[in-house]
Amino acid sequence: MSTQIQSLQARRIWDSRGRPTVEVDVHLEGGAMGRGIAPAGASTGSHEAIELRDGGADFGGYDVQKALANVMREIAPAIIGRDALDQRGVDDTLIALDGTSNKARLGGNALIATSMAVLHAAAASQRLPLWRYLQSTSAAPHDQSVILPLPEIQIFGGGAHAGRRIDIQDLLVMPVGAQSMAEALAMVAEVYRAAGDLMADAGRRAGVADEGGWWPDFANNEEALQMLTRAIEKAGYRHGEVMISLDIAASEFGSGGVYRPGLEKRAYDTGEWIEVLLRWLATYPILSIEDPVAEDDTAGMIAFTAAAGHKVQVIGDDYLVTNAARVRDAAAQKACNAVLIKPNQAGTISETFDALQAAKACGFSTVVSARSGESEDVMISHLSVGWNAGQLKVGSFARSERMAKWNELLRIEEAVGARARYAGADVLPLVGI
Ligand code: PGA
Ligand code: ZN
Repeated sequence: MSTQIQSLQARRIWDSRGRPTVEVDVHLEGGAMGRGIAPAGASTGSHEAIELRDGGADFGGYDVQKALANVMREIAPAIIGRDALDQRGVDDTLIALDGTSNKARLGGNALIATSMAVLHAAAASQRLPLWRYLQSTSAAPHDQSVILPLPEIQIFGGGAHAGRRIDIQDLLVMPVGAQSMAEALAMVAEVYRAAGDLMADAGRRAGVADEGGWWPDFANNEEALQMLTRAIEKAGYRHGEVMISLDIAASEFGSGGVYRPGLEKRAYDTGEWIEVLLRWLATYPILSIEDPVAEDDTAGMIAFTAAAGHKVQVIGDDYLVTNAARVRDAAAQKACNAVLIKPNQAGTISETFDALQAAKACGFSTVVSARSGESEDVMISHLSVGWNAGQLKVGSFARSERMAKWNELLRIEEAVGARARYAGADVLPLVGI
């Protein structure tokens, strides 16, 4: 079956926030088709690939007609006739065609939707589920076990995803004590339900935030941590079974070494802010923390990792923006010990893979991640398994753009059968939890 790219079709569709986004279909000569959909962040890092938006009055300026036109007028002629199995070659062409360091000309949204569509089409042409196709293109021996990722699942949303009602952006749980993906998701379902019940009992259940986590109707950040700890206990789990993960997304309220969390009555310098975080780590069963300080605060990342990196996973998201060079720098400086891997931060699948490989080579743990603006596409579930990332972060345990990705892992676990191994805590850069 010929795997040459025959045609592309770009269209505007709508993401989980009801905003326009880019969808690209890639058709191959042999009949296979792949479809990619660009996700979109709200708390974006300043060094990520640029999303091309039209501006103007329509849809709050979020329309993507320019990006769609770029796919049809520039990208399609450049990659028609190319072999979809040569992902690297196609992605290199996209990068060169754009010609900027941050994908600003053609748009990171145009490029990632195209790159994803080519990958989906390649897998379809081989009649393989994507996770299997990715494994078949890597050097992993065939009889190896297949790692199902440890999930990080949001229970309360906050920060830019909840109108800044609280400062912490994500309060998540990690079901480290599960034996399988099926059990892991069942455990989280109980915690999510328990948290909703506790909020209802307190007269504070007020819907959900952008990624499906309960709306954070709390007087301060620490109340949210207390409620999450209670929810884990109410669901019947102990320390070591379900642990907490936080995404502070500190760039949203800090820069230049000054932190002004909206719920606290005062400003903190970097050292004072780190003291707050260390006190939370000492008080609550926290196992992972993301962007603890702002993306411009390298000294703060280094100081926090020195103080806490032996007992918690320290993830760089806005700090590393899925960029291999930044990952290597951070490893050399000991500025974190894990990386969030978001394909649209990089702009192509191959650059996303490069960031993941760089992180593994440095001994970092790797967490494939969705964005706050998502779609029905389930590619990241497959990337987490096919690339053996070890962890996956998708948002909460509600709303089908999230559940589609968790449910896909159940299907993958079933398809893998006896070779499936749930990651649990083995994938964390820590010992003796
Ligand atoms: P974003 O949030 O998609 O809005 O950037 C996700 C995250 O910060 O991890
Ligand atoms: Zn983040």
